[in-house]
Amino acid sequence: MIYAVLVLGIFMLVLLLWPALGPARVTPEDTRRTELEEEREQLLDNLRELEAGSAGDAAGPHAEMVIREKVRLAQVLQELDALPPAQAARAGRPALPLALLALGVTALVTLGGLYTVFPQWRYAGLPTAEAAQLRNASALPGLERRATRTGALADLNAWGDAAWQAQNYSLASRAYTQVLVQQRSDAKALRRVGFFLLKDPKMAENGLGFIQRSVALAPRDPEGQLYYGYALGLFGQYGAGLQALNTYQALAPDGHEADDLIVQYQQKTGAGVDGRLVFAQNCAACHGQNLEGGRGPKLLGSAALRQPEALKSIVLHGATGMPAFPQLQGKQLDALVKYLGQQ
Ligand code: HEC
Repeated sequence: MIYAVLVLGIFMLVLLLWPALGPARVTPEDTRRTELEEEREQLLDNLRELEAGSAGDAAGPHAEMVIREKVRLAQVLQELDALPPAQAARAGRPALPLALLALGVTALVTLGGLYTVFPQWRYAGLPTAEAAQLRNASALPGLERRATRTGALADLNAWGDAAWQAQNYSLASRAYTQVLVQQRSDAKALRRVGFFLLKDPKMAENGLGFIQRSVALAPRDPEGQLYYGYALGLFGQYGAGLQALNTYQALAPDGHEADDLIVQYQQKTGAGVDGRLVFAQNCAACHGQNLEGGRGPKLLGSAALRQPEALKSIVLHGATGMPAFPQLQGKQLDALVKYLGQQ
């Protein structure tokens, strides 16, 4: 819609500017006037020369020429007088003020529409996720006012959820804290306030406590298990953290938020590193979750998978169109190579 209006605006502008952009219109009178003016200058020059060259000479060929030139000059001046006054400057570019006016009106309509009738125009051209985030962020002040005014749980939750989605975690935790004042066992509010508290070293322990309570209240909520696993890791409890993250994966088979942490924790606990997860985290974006290919070539059936040393070299040094992964060393690389060798 916004594009249609913009195109229309540009079209109008071009249409109006068209005559002004082209050369100024030239009438036959204009041409004649130019000719006469040139002749007038020429005659005046000639006269000046003749008079300079014939000082004191009252008769003779010189005087005769002077008279002829003067008669011609009088004719030229008369004809010039009879022509209508010059028009080019006045009539050549009549559209300019009009075009500027149209441009102004188009700009006003666009801006006006932007902030009144069609607020969605503000997001035109943005990727959907970003647009949603912006829309959320711009709805926040309204939601906050409403929640503060009514104090109703539904309004507080709407405010908190919007702030969370806009990744404004401190604002979200303010909203969820007020939810908790009214409802101390709200699992979502507990884990989200807890997650926010983890950022502050002085409050992190409280954060873990909040998340623990949330998980006890709603053990089958994937977000709770994910935050719980993350929080436990912050306190060095990798074994328990791994358990929570595995629960998260069981509850949300399509979620890959935990892949990175699981591999880290596996290394810390000395448990065998899961090569499948190393692959999912580093390679699947190009080669597909199931090695079926995508931006990178299909790996299923590739001879490279059967040559551990060559495989390691590709991973560590990269290839054309494939980045290097020098950070994949030791257990992670071994687990990855082992996993790929079994495919
Ligand atoms: C950014 C995309 C991208 C990522 C991420 C990526 N690759 Fe690649 N990979 C490619 C491309 C493109 C090629 C083809 C390179 C060529 O032909 O020179 C390739 C080639 C390969 C090959 C050779 C395949 C053959 O049959 O010759 C292997 C093996 C491989 N990648 C493994 C991996 C592994 C393991 C990871 C993760 C650690 C990974 N890739 C991550 C894009 C990627």
